[in-house]
Formats: sequence, structure tokens, C-alpha cells
Amino acid sequence: MDTRPIGMFDSGVGGLTVLKEVIKQNPKENIIYLGDTKSFPYGSKSKDSIIELTKKGIEFLISKNVKIVIIACGTATSQALEEVKDNYPIPVIGIIDSTVEYIKNNEKLKKIGIIATAGTIRSNGWQNKIESKIKDVVILNKSCPLLAPMAEEGWTENEIAKLTIREYLKELKNIDCLILGCTHYPLFKKIIQEELGQSVEIINTGEKLSKDLEKELKESKKDNSENKNGDFEIYLTDTETNFIHVAEKLLKEEKISNKINKVEL
Ligand code: DGL
Repeated sequence: MDTRPIGMFDSGVGGLTVLKEVIKQNPKENIIYLGDTKSFPYGSKSKDSIIELTKKGIEFLISKNVKIVIIACGTATSQALEEVKDNYPIPVIGIIDSTVEYIKNNEKLKKIGIIATAGTIRSNGWQNKIESKIKDVVILNKSCPLLAPMAEEGWTENEIAKLTIREYLKELKNIDCLILGCTHYPLFKKIIQEELGQSVEIINTGEKLSKDLEKELKESKKDNSENKNGDFEIYLTDTETNFIHVAEKLLKEEKISNKINKVEL
């Protein structure tokens, strides 16, 4: 048993879609979430900047005595995980591997769409990983730079969101699955599914990650098995944001503001 919390970070509300799945699958775990809202958006920054921000995020979480760090951000996973993960005494994982493993084990998924931030698509992080593990797949990439800012604004189900999604997805018809390669995008899942139809499987990376995490914590005897109910705490680098409203709606919890602390990285 390991009673230390799990650490997670993202540039803003996106990683909360991962937090939600981690709580669902691992309800006894305590979690420390860092939203680097001061540096949002990560998606339009250079690889060097993303590596720097990722190091700061990991080091902050390690200072909070976490047992594992989840990079709950596609942009940081695709551009910084491989560069930094071996520098730390605890495991650091990202959102890509569990989803690639899931697709590998599902032979029906051969035509794969990926939507993500500009930085993630430019890095080819998803495409390289998929092609190194799975043969005979067709991959269609599309960067959707407007979606993360819209999610931060809470515009995930209105008419503007519908039109934006329609425009971004128009080249992604006839796919078997769509990877939501940015953790902000599960907030648009309903309208993405409506746009693509029920025959396309929409993959929420947080869902795949949290199942693997549960298995991994149990097998390594690092789960917080004797805890009654896990809790979470949020640290933000800037609090002048819509974060609280989006978080309350997504996590269906009131009084999120009691769990929020401001931090300087
Ligand atoms: N949620 C992030 C991702 O998964 C970052 C979005 C952004 O900050 O641009 O890529």
C-alpha cells in the first residue's frame, strides 16, 4: 500500500477529463491536480517551452510527495514525456501509450483519426507511436487550435462549438475511431459523436489511461487500498480564469473553489 497522492497536470481544465476518469476507476486514491493556467495555451508553444513547462509541473508535483505523475496533456505528452521521464525518481506517464495499446488490441480499428493541438500534430507524437506498434493502419491527423480555448471558456455545447467541430472534422469522414488527442476535447464528445455518427468510436484517452493505472498500482502494490474515499486538491498558476465553472460542471461537484489553491511555479 502507498498512501501518497497521484499527481496530475495540464495547462488548464483539459486534464480534468482525465482526473474524472482516474477518480471513477481509482476512487480510493487522493489526487493533486496542477492547472498551469498562467501558461495556457500549451498547444501553440515551441517544443523547448513545453519541455520547460513540463519539468516545472513535474517538479512541483514531486514537491507535494506524489507517488506517480500523470501528464494529463497531449501536447506535453507528445513533446516532452520521452525527453524528461527518466530524470525523476518516480514514474511519469502520459496519455498516449494506453490508447495505442487499446487500438493495437482492437483489430477493427484500422482507419484512425486524430485531433489535437497544433503542437501535438506537428510533433507527430501520436502517429509515430501508432506506426511503431501497429501494422496496416491509415492515420488522418487534424489540428484544432480553437477547441482548447473554447473549452476553457465553457463553449462546448453551443452553436459556435457545433460549427467549429463541423469545420474541423469535415476531412475526417469514414474513419473507424477518432482519438481525442488533446485532453480538453472530451468536453466536446457529445457534439463530435453527433457529427461523426454512432459508427465511429470516439476515444477518450483518460478512460484508457485510468484502467491501466488501476492495474499498475495494484500490481506494484502502490494502491491506497485502505483509504475510505479519495479526495482531490487543485493548484492553479493563475486564478483569473473560468476554471472553477468548467470544473464544477464537469465534475458535478459544487464548492470546487474550496479545493483551489494558487501556486507560483
Ligand atoms: N489539454 C492540452 C492537451 O491535451 C493542452 C491544450 C492547450 O493548452 O493548448 O494538449
